Amino acid sequence: MKHILVTGGAKGIGKAIVEDLAKRGHKITATYHSSKEAAEKLAAKYPNVAFRQVNLENREAIQAFVADIVASGEPIDVLVNNAGLYVGKTFEKMTTEEVLQQIDLNFTAPALLIHGLLPVLKKSKAPLIINISSQVVRVNLTGEAMYASVKTALSTLTQMLRAELNPQGVRLATIEPFGVNTYGIPEPSDMIKPEELAQTISMAIELPDHLQLDNLGLSHINQPRPDYPDWIER
Ligand SMILES: NC(=O)c1ccc[n+]([C@@H]2O[C@H](COP(=O)([O-])OP(=O)(O)OC[C@H]3O[C@@H](n4cnc5c(N)ncnc54)[C@H](OP(=O)(O)O)[C@@H]3O)[C@@H](O)[C@H]2O)c1
Repeated sequence: MKHILVTGGAKGIGKAIVEDLAKRGHKITATYHSSKEAAEKLAAKYPNVAFRQVNLENREAIQAFVADIVASGEPIDVLVNNAGLYVGKTFEKMTTEEVLQQIDLNFTAPALLIHGLLPVLKKSKAPLIINISSQVVRVNLTGEAMYASVKTALSTLTQMLRAELNPQGVRLATIEPFGVNTYGIPEPSDMIKPEELAQTISMAIELPDHLQLDNLGLSHINQPRPDYPDWIER
């Protein structure tokens, strides 16, 4: 049984991760921002799941959350940086707020959480940090300039930190999925199901302590990869 912290655990991929890990008997501390009702439902369904509300766009809120976890003295075995924001618009169409939100949520928040939680992670006998990036760092999709840039920064941070932290026993994994159906598209779709990605992440978490899944790309073989996707507002 591991103690696992999952950001954005009440909705989409994060919800599937929380449910898969909870069914496997792990103890989960998860965060939500706006999905209060969904968080309460999950906590009621699984006695091993607890939720905290944190606005991960807010630096002070992140620091207060980190301080509480550190003060509790309980080790964290796994940190899953899942919460993120995708804005399907060309760069020109985005508001200034949307540009900044993508940096804050997709890069600054995971970096601050890793930075602040390292002391409690290092209390675990086999600490693991999982950062959910995206296949967009490997393919060229017009209209995803901001998203690709911040996810590339997150993938690079994960890779660079391995050199600093692996010698201290801290493992880091990057998960880079292509389209995951958190959009309510009727199934069967040509996208990965959130539950399928969650199972893959649980597999990475349950590897033997001396193994680290470095980078994992996952895609549905039928999903088209257009150069300029039709879902981008332009
Ligand atoms: N879906 C895909 O195709 C896909 C593909 C590759 C990678 N990813 C990545 O996978 C992760 C999850 O994606 P998803 O599809 O599950 O997204 P989603 O359904 O839009 O969910 C976004 C999650 O981020 C949280 N969040 C948003 N704003 C927040 C804020 N200000 N403070 C704290 N939490 C906040 C949400 O929490 P609340 O609901 O509580 O507000 C929610 O749990 C993201 O990092 C995304 O970039 C997704």
